[in-house]
Amino acid sequence: MKLLTTLTLGVALTMGSAAFAADYTMRLSHGDNENNPTHVTALKFEELVEKYTDGRIDVQIFPSNQLGSEQEVAQAVRTGSIESEIVYTGNLVPLAPSVGVMMLPYAFTSTDQAHAAMDALTDPLNERLPREAGVRILGYLEKGFRVLTNGEREVKNLDDLQGLKIRVSKNNIAIETFRSWGLDPVPMAWAEVFPALQQGVIDGQENPYTTAVSMKFNEVQDYITEIHYLIWSGPLIVSERWYQGLDADLQEALNKAGREAALYGRQNSAEETEKAMQKLVEMGMTLSGAPEDEEKWQEAARALWPSFADDIGGQEWVDQASRIIAEVTQ
Ligand code: MLT
Repeated sequence: MKLLTTLTLGVALTMGSAAFAADYTMRLSHGDNENNPTHVTALKFEELVEKYTDGRIDVQIFPSNQLGSEQEVAQAVRTGSIESEIVYTGNLVPLAPSVGVMMLPYAFTSTDQAHAAMDALTDPLNERLPREAGVRILGYLEKGFRVLTNGEREVKNLDDLQGLKIRVSKNNIAIETFRSWGLDPVPMAWAEVFPALQQGVIDGQENPYTTAVSMKFNEVQDYITEIHYLIWSGPLIVSERWYQGLDADLQEALNKAGREAALYGRQNSAEETEKAMQKLVEMGMTLSGAPEDEEKWQEAARALWPSFADDIGGQEWVDQASRIIAEVTQ
């Protein structure tokens, strides 16, 4: 009897663990630390995927570039050796030029406009990205305007900016935009930025307020300027090869979870941005607001738009995307 009970219990335990074991593991990489809103969205995605797939897909989150830089991981997602990533649009654009329509300087004046554009562009992008880059978008995140920080001096106008060594993400749009303001920017992987600021290899960088807080940039930077040239947008991408190997119901569950997790993150974005700004000021950083000659910054950067067509998917796509953006942001 005791043997029977032990056997029955053993079988039940085995069946139980088989019933609860996931069919798939989905690694989700991102470049921010656990105090950043990106991680909050990643956790929400994990929760929703596990709920909508009844645990058949097990999401494992790897924050802080643990699996490689954002650009390296995007390449790995393309080949399917990593399943998914949340990646800043500027770090995806060298692999997937079409997403670059989200990062034309001064294209959006509010986060509401950026949200409308992301939502309207996701389907057309998903018709292009699988072929172009081997990835597809499950949801599009937003974390507010990128602000300029530096450790040298208050930047109130273009003259103050001259001579500063500013890190930018490694893509032509960011590099040329900063050149149009008279700088020789330093393209650098995100993971290298904090030590480079600490060691004085660079004087400054640009990222959202929430990132400046999560990275403790106040320890190595003193001044903030709200240059308003770009909103941090970043898709949650999945490997097309891996996605196509899933049953339709699992694909649908991922689409739903990605959409909802991105919306969840966006809902908190404005409030988190405001809190982060206040915190940086409380911690001693000097906030200069917008440059007093902002129209000159805008004029120089906007003049570059036609020259970016090849970097962002070609003129035909730029025209199509521009029409879509104009329709939804009016
Ligand atoms: C970057 O500047 O490379 C990105 O904004 C970093 C990030 O993904 O948060």
